[in-house]
Amino acid sequence: MTKDWNLSAAPESTSHIQLQSEYGLFIGGKWIKPSDGSYFDTSNPATEKRIASIALAGKKDVDAAFKAADHAFDGWSSLSGAERGKYIFRIARIIQEKSREFAVIESMDGGKPIRESRDIDIPLAAAHFFYYAGWADKLDYVFPGRKMRPLGVAAQIIPWNFPLLMAAWKIAPALACGNTVVLKPAETTSLTALKLAEVIDEAGLPPGVVNIITGDGATGALMTAHPTPKKLAFTGSTEVGKQIYKAAIQGGKKVTLELGGKAANIIFDDAPIDAAVEGIINGIYFNQGHVCCAGSRLFVQETVYDEVLAKLKRRMDSLIVGDPMDKNTDIGAINSKAQLKTIERYLKLGSEEGAEIYQPACNLPEKGYWCKPTLFTNVAQSNRIAQEEIFGPVLAIQTFRTIEEVIEKANNTPYGLSAGVWTDKGSKIFQLTKELKAGVVWANTYNKFDPTSPFGGFKESGFGREGGIHGLEAYLSFD
Ligand code: NAI
Ligand code: MG
Repeated sequence: MTKDWNLSAAPESTSHIQLQSEYGLFIGGKWIKPSDGSYFDTSNPATEKRIASIALAGKKDVDAAFKAADHAFDGWSSLSGAERGKYIFRIARIIQEKSREFAVIESMDGGKPIRESRDIDIPLAAAHFFYYAGWADKLDYVFPGRKMRPLGVAAQIIPWNFPLLMAAWKIAPALACGNTVVLKPAETTSLTALKLAEVIDEAGLPPGVVNIITGDGATGALMTAHPTPKKLAFTGSTEVGKQIYKAAIQGGKKVTLELGGKAANIIFDDAPIDAAVEGIINGIYFNQGHVCCAGSRLFVQETVYDEVLAKLKRRMDSLIVGDPMDKNTDIGAINSKAQLKTIERYLKLGSEEGAEIYQPACNLPEKGYWCKPTLFTNVAQSNRIAQEEIFGPVLAIQTFRTIEEVIEKANNTPYGLSAGVWTDKGSKIFQLTKELKAGVVWANTYNKFDPTSPFGGFKESGFGREGGIHGLEAYLSFD
């Protein structure tokens, strides 16, 4: 099911956006300075200019945040579901009212095209709060006859690719079920989570129900090792996910992990080719390819390979790379210098492995972090560019003859998050959705998200589901 979440007008200028030059930590309903006075900068990856200083939470601050969340738990969890729902609805509505401001800040801080933050990220974030607000007083209908309780305090750590949206995915179901939270955004994209803290304040939530603290991986590690949280929720790299899993086992905590991916996007010769080409473009170049479910491996049936490749290159030539604030931009800035270096390492590696690279001729801005849309042909299944998550606008193309062959190739990765299939035949869709080891399989579309639909992976892509009624289960314990 897809819906049109386009709720706001085009943000043409950034002039009215109110940002502070320094941000503290949102703990117990108050803005406080970091206990040891440490800050780090967040910058605009399209200009390399500093935007603001962000508090770096240390041990004392992490303790304070969990104390506040723990203190707020009894009151929050004993409210009726209908009362909790009212607060969550209020958060959703305020996000909608401020959607233009949120979209501009999201694109400034993280580099994604304004068209995407405006039409996808921010409306979907509001939609998640609306959706879970609606469940808060209906949990007995979701789990009929079962006795359930909220878990307690949840520690939530999110990445930089969908900053506000991931905060919504984590906070909304936790609150609906009666938990309190401490959330940490990623260090390059803290601003919309801090703006969300302002919204939560404005919505009048009791102090300590939501605490937003900022910092780096060390702050995150302090959170996961802390004795107070009963639940760890993480979205990010598989490497860090494994460490968090260990912390959860050691601390006897519940855990959900949304990790990396290397999704197969599969084009059969009976597919509507022009639509499929749009799906390939959207699958890999959406959000600069900083997408865990990106269709980064393309499998094209041999009989239509030449046609697909020619059309794909022509479409790539028309993509506009540049200023994220321009509403015509298709591909914005790479989120950070570090991520750009990672992507560039893979571009070099792909050529060394013998694959053939294609990039359209386009002018890139002088300042900022940029990567042209890229595709590799002549890719072998064993190549690292076909096995490892690149998390950039880089597509690896392979061909196949039969459905059995493509299922085997598609499943031959350590990941299992998502996949796409393009065909005219329902029977092929059914076979693939059954046999592909992927949490989400899109048919004749790609990268479509909806709060009603569960999302999550198999194997090294993590476990647990977010979204839909499955997302509630992750924040409840049952007798
Ligand atoms: P990361 O996994 O290090 O960062 C994600 C979040 O985890 C951030 O908030 C970070 O501060 C926190 N973190 C880092 N180390 C931690 C620790 N030891 N304990 C607790 N929290 C910790 O991801 P990074 O380094 O920014 O990106 C590296 C690669 O990870 C990317 O190239 C991409 O392949 C993958 N990635 C996947 C994402 C996804 O949505 N599945 C999102 C971000 C990155
Ligand atoms: Mg930034």
